[in-house]
Amino acid sequence: MKYQGFKKFICLLLSCCILVLAGCSGTTPSGSDGDTTTTDKSTSEKTDGTTTTTTTTTKGTTTVPSNPTQPSSAPTGESSGEKLIALTFDDGPHSSVTGRILDTLERYDAKATFFIVGNRAADYPSVIRRARDLGCEIGSHTWSHKNLTKLSVDQMNAEMNNSVNAISNITGISVNIMRPPEGAYNATVRNNMPYPMIMWSVDSMDWKHRDAQKDYNEVMNHVFDGAIILMHDLYPATAAAVERLVPDLIARGYKFVTVSELMASRGVTMADGSVYFSAKP
Ligand code: NI
Repeated sequence: MKYQGFKKFICLLLSCCILVLAGCSGTTPSGSDGDTTTTDKSTSEKTDGTTTTTTTTTKGTTTVPSNPTQPSSAPTGESSGEKLIALTFDDGPHSSVTGRILDTLERYDAKATFFIVGNRAADYPSVIRRARDLGCEIGSHTWSHKNLTKLSVDQMNAEMNNSVNAISNITGISVNIMRPPEGAYNATVRNNMPYPMIMWSVDSMDWKHRDAQKDYNEVMNHVFDGAIILMHDLYPATAAAVERLVPDLIARGYKFVTVSELMASRGVTMADGSVYFSAKP
């Protein structure tokens, strides 16, 4: 018994240490959602790097307001403490789902980013123009949604050029960002990709669930300031989830911005061939 008690004590001590250690490296777990679907880790350093440095400052500032005489000084935090979120939609446009998502964004003056499959673009020019007019960002999801790691560099370039041209012809705006299909990339893709590659930090799992309540829970349970959320404007359930997510997240203090706006407001300069998962304050 004595020995068991001692064993328990050692176990407790060990788990405390593990907890403390986990707390220290706890700035990145949400980003690991994106990591799991990718084949490369090295390039996430850029975003992780900015994250870790700035979290330290956040920690510093949050511990400061221990002065009980100044409760009314809270509004000063408003300018610096805006919570930002980038909703992103892949694989569209879709005849009805994309329009329904745009209805919600318009209603709440929210913006999102659409990673469009190039060979679908010509079928839905008015949907794409409406997204542009609402201030949404249009990125490329390649021409025909092929896994880029399985293509030659020439084939990859053709996938990119065709999609980017199709989008630009419709919107009149040049494309600045892309998302690789399936989130798949390797060193060859990275070294030859003439656009920043946008991954995600929260996967709504809408492609798997096709259930608005589950999509909603997935996002609400994992959302954080600076998150990039992965959704697909293909499923009616996704549009239904967005109808609840947008007002509920606004009520929690989030502002919906495009990926480029999110990066810019966090001081991240995106580089071609680099990979981005989030932009924490
Ligand atoms: Ni896709």
